[in-house]
Amino acid sequence: MIRSRSLRLILAAALTLTIICPAFAGHGEVESPKKGILLVAFGTSVPEARVSLENIGEKVAKAFPDTEIRWAYSAAIIRNKIKRTENMNVPSPAAALAQMGDDGFTHVAVQSLHTIPGQEFSDLTKTAKAFDGIPKSISHISIGTPLLTSPHDLAAMAKVLPATVPADRKKNEAVIFMGHGTHDPGNIYYPGLATYLQEEDSNIYVGTVEGYPALDNIIPKLKAKGIKKVWLMPLMSVAGDHARNDMAGPEDDSWKSILTKEGFNVKTVLKGTGEYDTVVAQWVAHLKEAFKALDSM
Ligand code: CO
Repeated sequence: MIRSRSLRLILAAALTLTIICPAFAGHGEVESPKKGILLVAFGTSVPEARVSLENIGEKVAKAFPDTEIRWAYSAAIIRNKIKRTENMNVPSPAAALAQMGDDGFTHVAVQSLHTIPGQEFSDLTKTAKAFDGIPKSISHISIGTPLLTSPHDLAAMAKVLPATVPADRKKNEAVIFMGHGTHDPGNIYYPGLATYLQEEDSNIYVGTVEGYPALDNIIPKLKAKGIKKVWLMPLMSVAGDHARNDMAGPEDDSWKSILTKEGFNVKTVLKGTGEYDTVVAQWVAHLKEAFKALDSM
């Protein structure tokens, strides 16, 4: 009687242990996945230019209505400046990922809102890889590529960008899209895009502030064609400091001043590529790929 009673107790205890043990063993790590999105822009210190980023945020929210979306700026110089001048706190990609880990996100798709895969994107990739799978934080991170990162992207943008040019531009007037440019090998996407664009419209050019092609490479071509009027448009997500000063500013060395001095009639468009829904759709397509990749991780 006593024997069988203690046997029953032992059995009951063993059963309880079998039920409890897996829960202890897992330490809660078998939680259901929590997916999130981190949008990473270079950032801008020009408040009016943020309409581009707001538009991108709206389109991403529309594409991912059930997923939390967070932001980071990859440029430390911008983050520090807006903290000082506007008391605005936008985290770095590292700070944003650390916070998402603490907030219980298990899977995060990081979308680069840069234009080409240059230094900013390679830094972002290293940061995301460093945070991928660190203990008690995000277990899986995937990365969405910049606007122009493949031949397919170049072909797609060569169809999309000409349609963003104002309707009153005539075919015999030139358009120059002004990109940032870099010494990084990723600069190749600017002349790459230019080649695709020229097949669509031979009077559309791509120039850069800090890389190749420069404005000096384009001016002789405009003169050889007898072009009289030039439209300048940013090939940057926002119409920030570079667009307002280097492209359209009143200083002698702005593209507007240089072209005017060279005898061209110059029109400027102060809109970032993030303001055009057709361009934003390209970033959203890259994000959809990155988000889908989380399922196979
Ligand atoms: Co710059």
